[in-house]
Amino acid sequence: MSFLMRFCTCVVNVLCLPLHLIYAVGLYALYKRFFTCFMYRVAVLVNQRIYSKKKELFLNLPEFKNPDGQLTILEIGCGTGANFEFYPPGSKVICTDPNPHFEKYLEKNMGENDHLKYDRFIVTCGEDMRSVEDESVDAVVTTHVLCSVRNIKQTLREVHRILRPGGAYFFLEHVVADASTWTYFFQHVLQPAWYYFGDGCELTRDTWKYLEAAPFSELKLRHIEAPIISLVKPHIIGYAVKKTELRSKPPSQPVDE
Ligand SMILES: C[S@@+](CC[C@H](N)C(=O)[O-])C[C@H]1O[C@@H](n2cnc3c(N)ncnc32)[C@H](O)[C@@H]1O
Repeated sequence: MSFLMRFCTCVVNVLCLPLHLIYAVGLYALYKRFFTCFMYRVAVLVNQRIYSKKKELFLNLPEFKNPDGQLTILEIGCGTGANFEFYPPGSKVICTDPNPHFEKYLEKNMGENDHLKYDRFIVTCGEDMRSVEDESVDAVVTTHVLCSVRNIKQTLREVHRILRPGGAYFFLEHVVADASTWTYFFQHVLQPAWYYFGDGCELTRDTWKYLEAAPFSELKLRHIEAPIISLVKPHIIGYAVKKTELRSKPPSQPVDE
């Protein structure tokens, strides 16, 4: 299967030459605006199909309120705000996405979810969230984002940095299928075209390995089959908790004789 897979991938790559060219000359940026409009429609359909999975994902969110009873959630790659309806009432939400054209959809969605406090929208990628202070949020969320970030390791480093000790990172991500399946075959063959239509999305990532290697103290991760099209059926779902700091006793001061 490996030879056939490589051959078919090459054929698809050749068919994608016009797309490679459009990308190389910088015209692909025009697609970004269209992608937001496309995502606005797709996100509604995806939410309907995976409603119960998202309910399950966010079930434990309220456990991570800070001692004042406040929950500050930062969402990376928030897109149109498809997760807002699942957040607990009263949560403060900070939205981030590198694509500024999502803002108008976000505002519309926020208007429809008045159980939340909309903090701000930061145009940035997950790998660089320097405008967010260290240990300043109770929860970080990504859904269908780690497939698109350029550097998963760096994104998880940023997630860990901005989470307060005891805070949690919630994720729902599509991943590469088992190597013995046709889904795996088609994920690899169609990847070159999918990349462009999906705004940089990669079907063939083994994202769970990065989560397992990240410095969280507790990782609840399950592999599931989401009820959506075969290519993106294999998913991981769960959350990871940042270790609570053990405050060591301050050294005793020397007593003046
Ligand atoms: C498939 S959409 C998912 C949107 C939303 N999370 C949802 O579940 O509907 C992927 C999102 O990831 C964003 N994205 C792409 N590259 C990113 C990066 N490096 N850092 C953060 N977000 C990124 C895209 O702009 C887009 O909003």
